[in-house]
Amino acid sequence: LYIGVDLGTSAVKLLLMQADGTIENVVSKEYPLYFPHPGWSEQKPEDWWDAVKEGIKELTAACDKSQVAGISFGGQMHGLVILDEKDDVIRPAILWNDGRTGKETNYLNDVIGKDKLSQYTANIAFAGFTAPKVLWVKENEPENFSRIKKIMLPKDYIAYKLSGTFCTDVSDASGMLLFDVKNKCWSEEMMEICGITRDQLADIYESYEAVGKLKKDVAEELGLPESVVIAAGAGDNAAAAVGTGTVGDGQCNISLGTSGTIFISSRDFGVDENNALHAFAHADGHYHLMGCMLSAASCNKWWMDEILRSKDYAGEQAAIEKLGENNVYFLPYLMGERSPHNNPDARGTFIGMTMDTTREDMIQAVLEGVAFAIRDSFEVAKSLGIQIERTKICGGGAKSPLWKKIMANVLNIKVDVLVTEEGPGLGGAMLAAVACNEYADVEEAAARIVKVADTIEPDPELAAKYEEKYRKFAQIYPTVKDLFT
Ligand code: XUL
Repeated sequence: LYIGVDLGTSAVKLLLMQADGTIENVVSKEYPLYFPHPGWSEQKPEDWWDAVKEGIKELTAACDKSQVAGISFGGQMHGLVILDEKDDVIRPAILWNDGRTGKETNYLNDVIGKDKLSQYTANIAFAGFTAPKVLWVKENEPENFSRIKKIMLPKDYIAYKLSGTFCTDVSDASGMLLFDVKNKCWSEEMMEICGITRDQLADIYESYEAVGKLKKDVAEELGLPESVVIAAGAGDNAAAAVGTGTVGDGQCNISLGTSGTIFISSRDFGVDENNALHAFAHADGHYHLMGCMLSAASCNKWWMDEILRSKDYAGEQAAIEKLGENNVYFLPYLMGERSPHNNPDARGTFIGMTMDTTREDMIQAVLEGVAFAIRDSFEVAKSLGIQIERTKICGGGAKSPLWKKIMANVLNIKVDVLVTEEGPGLGGAMLAAVACNEYADVEEAAARIVKVADTIEPDPELAAKYEEKYRKFAQIYPTVKDLFT
């Protein structure tokens, strides 16, 4: 048995998988998310650890625990976790969707220079990346900065608590802006720019490599054998790509989670010249390009829970009939935006309402706004000559048949719906299975485990309507962006 830990932003989702890919059990444990100032986003690593321990106990309560052979991860990326010399957490983790580092991001992009950053790391600075956060702590919390012994990413903190190994993997390290993605090593230049040293950073592994075994006391507490292998795991998007079979060359996955991402796998290293898409290492041993929007399913959650105060997502969506005809547009930038605009100050916007605009139109506009924003990154990929004819889809938003249909028609590509939507959790468990030699490599595991259940084909008439709508959507942000300061 293998455990996949998907350390998300709203909850940790744990999945128990048999060696052949059969899912035995899934458990989810929520933890709080703090917004101490507008645009800031933090969580307590201790909350993650408690939730993971509780989750593993519940997940394995009914199984023969002696059969658990490996644990691995998909983790929310970019978050800054800092530990002192006693291994205590120094301050709450600053998360991937935190926008406080505008000044540091501008310093890196404008003073150090995008060309240099791209040469050192294959990427430029975005507010959510880890290096700008390190600079923010250095500038704003010098006392905390001086106590830093270890710099970690969220899932690596869990791997450390489980195994005692100070480790990270190539896919997650890619999002730190401290990592030379092409050569898969830490960048000396970036360490110097951030004022940190090599011993503050973890050892680097491929995602499917074992980093150690369960610590004795943790094994006892969880009731698991000490022989359980801990594999490095991956950033949640790379883990989701593994769990949806988006491995090898030219495959695409869209994730509609708290964030929304479009992920394109590639055997070879490649960079988007304009750096609108991230150039990262993949969990299959190769590379990928990715566009990330900061608020995807979270826009729908905000609109339904906070504004409409409705829990009936499916019922409300079933009343939507006018696909391709909506005159209301929504810019989904509730936490600022990463790809492709790179603007932490961008904000959400509705535009185009009239007296006969209905509740349904507004709900539809939110779903469409997210799809159009994914299309923005898709367009960047197309401009690089990448041809995508079909995609997989996963994440909470992928449970909505309507949203999947909108996505297929807005992008005008086929959407393959998988037997399971547990992207990162399943990917994590698969990485653990590869680390334990159940499969020769990640591609073999994906070929044997991931199954397509259904394909949504775009409808030419609807896709043509959405083409026109997208052209209008694409004009809104450039028109209003100066208002967001
Ligand atoms: C990717 C990103 C998000 C988080 C969400 O660059 O920031 O997708 O990984 O957990």
